[in-house]
Amino acid sequence: MVSVLPRRFVPATASALAVAAAVLVPQVSAPSHSPSAQPAAVVANKPDDFVVVGHRGASGYRPEHTLAAYELAARMGADYIEPDLVTTKDRVLVARHEPEIGGTTDVAAHPEFAARKKTKLLDGSPLTGWFTEDFTLKELKTLRAKERIPALRQQNTVFDGRYQVPTLQEVIDLSRRLSRELRRPIGIYPETKHPTYFQQQGLALEPELVKTLTRNGLNHPGAKVFVQSFEVANLKALDQQLRVPLVQLTSASGAPYDFVVNGDKRTYADVVSATGLREVAKYADGVGPAKDQVIPLDATGKLGRPTALVRDAHRAGLVVHPYTFRVENNFLPADFDSSAVPADAGNLFGEINAFRAAGVDGVFSDNPDVAVAAEAESK
Ligand code: G3P
Ligand code: CA
Repeated sequence: MVSVLPRRFVPATASALAVAAAVLVPQVSAPSHSPSAQPAAVVANKPDDFVVVGHRGASGYRPEHTLAAYELAARMGADYIEPDLVTTKDRVLVARHEPEIGGTTDVAAHPEFAARKKTKLLDGSPLTGWFTEDFTLKELKTLRAKERIPALRQQNTVFDGRYQVPTLQEVIDLSRRLSRELRRPIGIYPETKHPTYFQQQGLALEPELVKTLTRNGLNHPGAKVFVQSFEVANLKALDQQLRVPLVQLTSASGAPYDFVVNGDKRTYADVVSATGLREVAKYADGVGPAKDQVIPLDATGKLGRPTALVRDAHRAGLVVHPYTFRVENNFLPADFDSSAVPADAGNLFGEINAFRAAGVDGVFSDNPDVAVAAEAESK
């Protein structure tokens, strides 16, 4: 564990423990990742040694961003479940990786919505499909989720057609229910997706996010919540309204879209420079880089040498939670591939251990069971 703690993390207080005690009641046995021998209230406000985020749920095993995927992630031992957030026409925050839902739902098979198919500019790039902001929640709830990458995750397709698109409120309700059942706090790690895009349509995500967290008693430093964004301006604005830790996401290429729109020439590479990270620390508590920004691949596709990102982020007081750790060879560095078949499972343990050795404070993983097991083996 690094000594860096998010500035919004506070030591357990009587009031925070009282809140935790109110939601955490004795129940069935917890997974091995859980410090189940301790009274629930003792662990409720303790920062995790190593943060395992169920990326879009346990999306290596269930269609992403479904309650089934989130529940499985929690049962596998994830500390947090991660809903990416977009909005409906009637301003309800729902969990999808992007506003376009043709790739992750059966909307194309609904003739009543055929006329909703459109081409829009998403962060400057044309995209054709169906968009959440053109649907009411009631309409969206008639759709069913499907596996995004069936070529790599054929086994997940057996769950196609079974689950709805969940709202943020449903994800929070699930995290509460599972916190009680598993006797450990299941955190949420929501991401505002394409904030500028939604602001430009008069459907800003941030007010609804603040309202929902506040309404659920989750807008305080002891809440097990991180809020993340690839954009900068909306995180800075949220810093004025939220009392939970914020995480600046960065990408191996390109620039925050709000920078692009505002003519700011800085790129994500600038954001993760030592100077950039000190700037981030003024409004956020962590950074969520792409894996390559922490350990780039060499010319042969194998892991190279770590960059200075972790050191510089820690010096700035930021935690580092890179994304995305996935078991399929398709997503692994060549040194951890098990075969030439992209869908085959490779050595995700090896990759996670290399990043742990590089000092990261947690990981986003589609396979949280592997991340949890890697953490347990290291103790
Ligand atoms: O939020 C961390 C990671 O999820 C960012 O990538 O595109 O999977 O949301 P993405
Ligand atoms: Ca995300």
